[in-house]
Amino acid sequence: MPHYHSLGKIPSKRHVQFRKPDGTLYSEQLLSTEGFSDAYSLTYHVYPPTMVSAIEEPYSVAPEVAIEKNMQNRSFQGFQVPPADDFLESRVPLMINNDIHISVAAPRQSMKSYFYKNSGADELLFIHEGKGVVRTMYGKLPFSYGDHIVIPRGTVYTIEFEATDNRLLILESFSPIRFPKRYVNRFGQLLEHAPYYERDIRKPSDLETFDQKGDFRILVKKDGLIFPYHYATHPFDVIGWDGFLYPWAFSIHDFEPITGRIHQPPPVHQTFEGNNYVLCAFVPRLYDYHPDAIVVPYNHSNVDSDEVLYYVDGEFMSRKHVNRGQFTLHPIGIPHGPHPGAVERGIGAKETRELAVMIDTFKPLMITRQALDIEDKAYFSSWID
Ligand SMILES: [Fe+2]
Repeated sequence: MPHYHSLGKIPSKRHVQFRKPDGTLYSEQLLSTEGFSDAYSLTYHVYPPTMVSAIEEPYSVAPEVAIEKNMQNRSFQGFQVPPADDFLESRVPLMINNDIHISVAAPRQSMKSYFYKNSGADELLFIHEGKGVVRTMYGKLPFSYGDHIVIPRGTVYTIEFEATDNRLLILESFSPIRFPKRYVNRFGQLLEHAPYYERDIRKPSDLETFDQKGDFRILVKKDGLIFPYHYATHPFDVIGWDGFLYPWAFSIHDFEPITGRIHQPPPVHQTFEGNNYVLCAFVPRLYDYHPDAIVVPYNHSNVDSDEVLYYVDGEFMSRKHVNRGQFTLHPIGIPHGPHPGAVERGIGAKETRELAVMIDTFKPLMITRQALDIEDKAYFSSWID
């Protein structure tokens, strides 16, 4: 969870009169998590944020599960998902459980005609290809290749892309996305041994205040449905805010890898976590330097976690035939390991240029219908020599 941040104008104390130049009051809003018991922010609006003018019929965007109980190593080609113009319509869910939904998207166009709010999940947008800006009532977050953009649930946002060729990995987390507990001290500050520091966490900037009335459509996602809401005031009418709850960004290129004489376990690669899952970043780094080190990972059984790897860039020592945007899923219950020849091939190698995101879930993942369309059907037997 990032630290205290503030933008724009705020009153000297909470919950006191704060007036506009014309003498009328600004509207204070508390955005709080775990009821009123965890991180929160206070925002000050030109108009009350409650002026709903119409609500359209909800429609379903719920994933369609094709395989509920998976017991097979699988691989999916994320870049085979076709591009679509609209940001929300471009999203294709691939693997899901009650803690997290994993999707990819190749949106061509910026959001121009509506705003979006996920009320059921924190969102993490990993930018594999593309450049642009996320706009929120907390300010702007410019993004580019390699950024994780973390958007807490309840945040209204739009996304603008500079070009049409964009590729995103999208996680919906049904619990708050947070820093691993072992990375932070009792005050919440990132410790010296953490692979990133507060300076690497990019906070919103350039607060824009839209003093506008009219018809503003916000697509609100919750429980697999989109509820189209219409508000009579612009959702980004904030004159100032402060607190700990806001969207932020972290680039995978700012992750400082931890290396050792012999193979380091996957937790050294951890970036963030939520309930029942962890996220990791595999970044370019020096290999293990014991003279007899085997630098390629050992075979392993994920006794109690499904392991998803998303390949971003570079070469992958332990696998053959890996493409950008490819997923591998190695589920609870069966071992996996380096492909034939990879162990010997890796001996003596000094460094790796791999770049990948890993998602380990502690509950099994279900496979969607769309995932089967982009599956390498023979992957399960790819270890045969
Ligand atoms: Fe693994």
